[in-house]
Amino acid sequence: MPFCVGLTGGIGCGKSKATDIFAELGAGVVDTDVISRELTGPGGGAMRAISAEFGQSYVLSDGSLDRPRMRALVFSDPGAKQRLEQILHPQIRAASREHIAAAPETYVIVVVPLLLETGAYRDLLDRVLVIDCDEAQQVARTMARSGLKEDEVRRIMRAQVPRATRLKGADDVLRNDADIPDLRAQIEALHAKYSAAARNAV
Ligand SMILES: Nc1ncnc2c1ncn2[C@@H]1O[C@H](COP(=O)(O)OP(=O)(O)O)[C@@H](O)[C@H]1O
Ligand SMILES: [Mg+2]
Repeated sequence: MPFCVGLTGGIGCGKSKATDIFAELGAGVVDTDVISRELTGPGGGAMRAISAEFGQSYVLSDGSLDRPRMRALVFSDPGAKQRLEQILHPQIRAASREHIAAAPETYVIVVVPLLLETGAYRDLLDRVLVIDCDEAQQVARTMARSGLKEDEVRRIMRAQVPRATRLKGADDVLRNDADIPDLRAQIEALHAKYSAAARNAV
């Protein structure tokens, strides 16, 4: 397995932006959200099991998951959420493992939004990188990106671990309080560090 860095952080803290910059610099990227969407896309590997468990009415004509319908169900029914996760989580993990093992890059950024909430993936990771910004920026950036209202963003934030807890779980921290060039400079330094660590690990 290549050297693996788990990247996590609250909603809107800049995981996707940071991942794009790492990829530009030449890091491998495995994003568990992207894998989850592939598994539930047209012909996705989880769709047969989802159809069997929830019925064909959750499957769109192109064979992909009816996301709004499923979101409504799991929002109102915790048991359904659990059944969906029992189908998806093992498949996301298996696919992530495969993608990591197949990565040609010297190290891989593994994006796991709920890394510190669930503890999943820790065994695959050599380091944990937390991206953090102050709460006002987090709310503003998420609202601008998603069109969600402030109380909706804050509700999602309350379901995630508090920042202090997340930062305690970090080996490295990206402070995303300033502009993109500032973020890029921090990532360039980490890229050099991770590239060296990957060379020393083999
Ligand atoms: N340093 C920054 N300055 C300005 N906007 C930023 C910065 N970092 C991220 N953003 C923007 O904030 C939004 C949330 O960032 P994103 O990377 O999508 O967060 P996440 O993936 O953690 O939810 C995006 O629209 C992104 O382009
Ligand atoms: Mg993102």
